[in-house]
Amino acid sequence: MTPTPVLLDCDPGIDDALAIAYLVAEHRAGRIELVGVVCTAGNVGLDDTVANALAWLDLAGAPPVPVCAGAAGASVVSHVFTPETHGPRGAGYADLKAGQDHVTTTTPARLDPRNGAQLWAHLAHEHRGELVAVVTGPTSTLAQALDLEPLLPGLVADLVVMGGTFRGHPGNTTPVSEWNVDVDPEAADAVCLAWEDARRADTDVRPPLWCGLNLTEQGVWTPEHSSRLLAAADTPLTRALLDALRFYFEFHESVGEGYLAQVHDPLVAWMALHPGEVVAEQSHIRVECCGSHTRGMTVEDRRGHRDRRPNARIAIDVHVPGGPAAVLDEVVAAIASLA
Ligand code: BDR
Ligand code: CA
Repeated sequence: MTPTPVLLDCDPGIDDALAIAYLVAEHRAGRIELVGVVCTAGNVGLDDTVANALAWLDLAGAPPVPVCAGAAGASVVSHVFTPETHGPRGAGYADLKAGQDHVTTTTPARLDPRNGAQLWAHLAHEHRGELVAVVTGPTSTLAQALDLEPLLPGLVADLVVMGGTFRGHPGNTTPVSEWNVDVDPEAADAVCLAWEDARRADTDVRPPLWCGLNLTEQGVWTPEHSSRLLAAADTPLTRALLDALRFYFEFHESVGEGYLAQVHDPLVAWMALHPGEVVAEQSHIRVECCGSHTRGMTVEDRRGHRDRRPNARIAIDVHVPGGPAAVLDEVVAAIASLA
């Protein structure tokens, strides 16, 4: 079987780093082909998300893969950076420069001259009907890609987004909004609208899987996961990941969650690779872009008030004994296998 081509659009970011390492491990195991990485400005700026993605790919021993810089900020409003969440440079306490001194790869990752939107469009055509795209940051670059190639929804096999919060689960940025969506609601709404339009024209277009906080907050990484990873593989990659994660633990502790980290992004990357093990419901969603109290809210129309075709699949659970916690055990094992 040919491995599934996978594109990652990310904003590393500490849990994005776990997603990168996990996908590289799955690539090296021959289960996927990581065909591209797009970096989008997120909790930290574009220069940092690019530098971090390149460094994490090298530390993980990634294959030569195009890495492109995408959107430098939100589509309409000024971008709000939040370095307190992932550290001033987006890698917590990890010193990625020092870590890279230990990199032995002969083909270090380099920035591709194309922009992120161009890479999205190129890969969607090159792997037409097969590409699985995973977004673990703001959808700002994806919105640009939809402007560049409006046929994108019909070209990709699947789109999996870490974004939003559903079914009454509270937000992590405002009472109703999740951070990736909150920072660029116009982009997230453009994604909803693009798939709504595409499915009106062609019902075979698969609605994207939206993985919101209602599920991803169950992806809890504890110091015990860190110890287990280090015991299984004491490498520059795992040591850097653990240094990054210590910062993420402290951030979560500072907001009352305890000394642990909700690692949304590797859970979402796993769901993209295991569609048959995701419990999801088709639905219609849009993103609130105006409300003074509700901007950034992912608004699901469960009762069909808008009489619109479903444009989304809402992730509800995973079909794995042990749930999201067991998924993280798989992520630990995959990353350890890179040693
Ligand atoms: C999302 O926001 C970022 O801080 C994380 O990396 C994750 O993608 C969670 O709301
Ligand atoms: Ca992220």
